[in-house]
Amino acid sequence: MSERPDRFGVDDIAERAEKAFAEAVDLDALEEARVRFIGRKGEITTLLRSIGSLPNEERPAFGDLVNDLRERILGLYERRKGALSEGAAEEDYFSGDPTLPGRRVLLGGRHVLHQVLRDIKRIFFGMGYSLAEGPDVELDYYNFEALNFPPDHPSRDTQDTFYIDRDILLRTQTSPVQVRYMEKHKPPLRIIVPGRVYRNESPDPSHASEFLQMEGLYVDRNVSLADLRNDMTYFVRAFFGSDAKVRFRPHFFPFTEPSAEADMSCFACRGSGCSICGRTGWIEIMGAGMVHPHVFRNAGYDPDAYTGFAFGLGLDRIAMLKYGIDDIRRLLANDLRFLRQFWAETAGEVFE
Ligand code: PHE
Repeated sequence: MSERPDRFGVDDIAERAEKAFAEAVDLDALEEARVRFIGRKGEITTLLRSIGSLPNEERPAFGDLVNDLRERILGLYERRKGALSEGAAEEDYFSGDPTLPGRRVLLGGRHVLHQVLRDIKRIFFGMGYSLAEGPDVELDYYNFEALNFPPDHPSRDTQDTFYIDRDILLRTQTSPVQVRYMEKHKPPLRIIVPGRVYRNESPDPSHASEFLQMEGLYVDRNVSLADLRNDMTYFVRAFFGSDAKVRFRPHFFPFTEPSAEADMSCFACRGSGCSICGRTGWIEIMGAGMVHPHVFRNAGYDPDAYTGFAFGLGLDRIAMLKYGIDDIRRLLANDLRFLRQFWAETAGEVFE
C-alpha cells in the first residue's frame, strides 16, 4: 500500500483501529472499539457506502481495498480478543484474597481391607504364589457340585446364598476358582485367589452377608499336609509377628480330605486367654485341607499323580484381628470417621 498515496485514507483507519484495540483494557472496551470500526454503522461500512460517489472505473479497486482493510482489522481484533480472554481467565484465578490460606485438597486413602489384602499378597508372592481371580456371580456347578457338594446334600446348608437362577448364584466361597483354574492350567501350580463372597446370614458383629476371602491352592507331586502347615506358619509370622503360632483342628469340608480349621494364637493375650479369644488363647482364621480326589477328577487331573492343599482365609477376620476392630459391619459401612483411622499409612500411595 505504501507505493501508492493512501488515496482513501485506509492506512489511517487501520492504524487507528489497531491503537483502539490495544488500548481496550477489557472485553467490553474491545467490543465498543470493534463496533466503532467494523460494526454495522462503523467506519468501514460508511467507507463502503461512499463507493457510489466514485467514478465507475475506480469502484472495483476501491471495493477490494476496503474489503482487505476490513479483513485486516478483523484479524487485529481477534488477536487482541484472544489476549484479553487469557488475561481474564488468569485474573479470575487470583480474584480471591491471595492472603487467605489455600483450599485443602482432600486425599482419599486405601480401605483397611485393601491394605490388609495388599500386605497378605506381598507375603504370598514372596513364597512363589501367583494371583488368580474368578466371578462373584457363579454357577452352582463350580460353587458346589465340582467341589463335591451333591445336590440336596445337607453339607450345602452351611452355605446358603442368594440365587440369581436355579443354577446361578452369588458365590459363597472363593473355592470355585480351584476347579476353574485347574481346568485351564496344568500342575504344578501355586495360586492365591482373593475375592468377595456372599451368604444368607443374619448380620451381627461377626457375620455379614458379604465379606472377603482369600483362597490358596498348591498342587504338585508329593505335596503334603506338612507343606500346608509350613506355608501357613510362615504367613502368620510374617503378618502378625514372629511369635505368632498356628494350630490345626480336625474339621470337615466336602472338597478336602483330610480337612482342618486353623487357629492362630490370640494376638491380644498371646495365648493366655482373654475375652477376644473366648479364653481359649486361639482364634480361628481359616479352613484348609488336602484337595479331595473327586475335585481333581472334576478338574481333569489324575488324583494318583498329584496331591495338593487348599486353604481359605477370612480377610475381614484377619483385618479385625490385626487392628482390633470389634464389628465386621464397620468394614462395609463406609463411615469415613472409621476408615480415616487407617489412612495415615497409605496417604498419597499410588493405587495399583
Ligand atoms: N471355602 C471354605 C469356606 O468358605 C474354606 C476352605 C477353603 C476350606 C479351602 C478348605 C479349603 O468355609
